Amino acid sequence: MSDAPAFLNLDEIEPLARERLSRPVYDYFAGGSDDEVTVRENREAFRRIRLVPRVLVDVTSRDLTTTLLGEALSSPLLVAPMALQRMADPEGEKATARAAAAAGALFVLSTVSSVSLEEVASAAPTAPRWFQLYHLTDRADRIRAFEEARRVARPGAPVVAAGISRFASLLDGLVQGRLGDPAFVEIVESDLATGQHRNPTDRAGWFTTAYFHRPEELAEEARDGGLVVDGVFGVEGPGWLLPDLWDNPGRREQTLRAARAVERDPSMLGLSAHLLVVARTP
Ligand SMILES: Cc1cc2nc3c(=O)[nH]c(=O)nc-3n(C[C@H](O)[C@H](O)[C@H](O)COP(=O)(O)O)c2cc1C
Repeated sequence: MSDAPAFLNLDEIEPLARERLSRPVYDYFAGGSDDEVTVRENREAFRRIRLVPRVLVDVTSRDLTTTLLGEALSSPLLVAPMALQRMADPEGEKATARAAAAAGALFVLSTVSSVSLEEVASAAPTAPRWFQLYHLTDRADRIRAFEEARRVARPGAPVVAAGISRFASLLDGLVQGRLGDPAFVEIVESDLATGQHRNPTDRAGWFTTAYFHRPEELAEEARDGGLVVDGVFGVEGPGWLLPDLWDNPGRREQTLRAARAVERDPSMLGLSAHLLVVARTP
């Protein structure tokens, strides 16, 4: 028998963490940003999903397996990137990577990891793992990050990196009616001219220091980091420009259809707010 504490659900883990952690560390892990609106929304989103009880149905063989970018996973669950895990435990991200591997779940390492990429790789050598890559405003740093990913990736495993489109602020500003606001236009002009996104205002919704890529640039950086590029994909396609589409189930399929139609067309990729480059080790 394991001597790990028993718990029924995530709510029962929180008091255990509260006992182990100092107050500021507990607050860091338990808290959300600002007014914690997203924390509440995320919980509500899960609560809105209802399981339909079925009786007298054969459930001896259940299958939650799926594949994501060619990786076989035991379920469609990903461990989201979470920073500074050694604040909670000396093993930090290594322990989380091992636990994710044991559960067959996909582990995403935060940019703000408190252990090195290599330590995570050796903690769970055969598991799929993703690394978060953004906010690196210097091209040389981004190339180094790709080189690091190449160094620690399993041979032939996909290396996936996310970027934000050069045109994201322009298009968002157009939809939200912000292109008449000189402070916003200044940010957009810098994005378009150099890709260097800065937000000197106190409006958190206008994002923070980051680099916004042209789609072909993201592929080029992956290549310069020594990877073989399979392709660049637009994540949302044009759907994100029409607010409320996702809340309208009747339109969801149409939105996906439009996204699929343009997700790999080089002339349309920058329309998506987020881009993914999918590459592998040579
Ligand atoms: C303690 C903590 C640290 C986080 N650190 C990061 C981070 O470094 N990078 C990031 O993109 N998201 C970070 N997040 C956001 C999570 O990846 C995730 O998007 C968020 O927690 C919402 O998912 P959830 O509802 O499953 O918690 C962090 C979240 C928490 C709670």
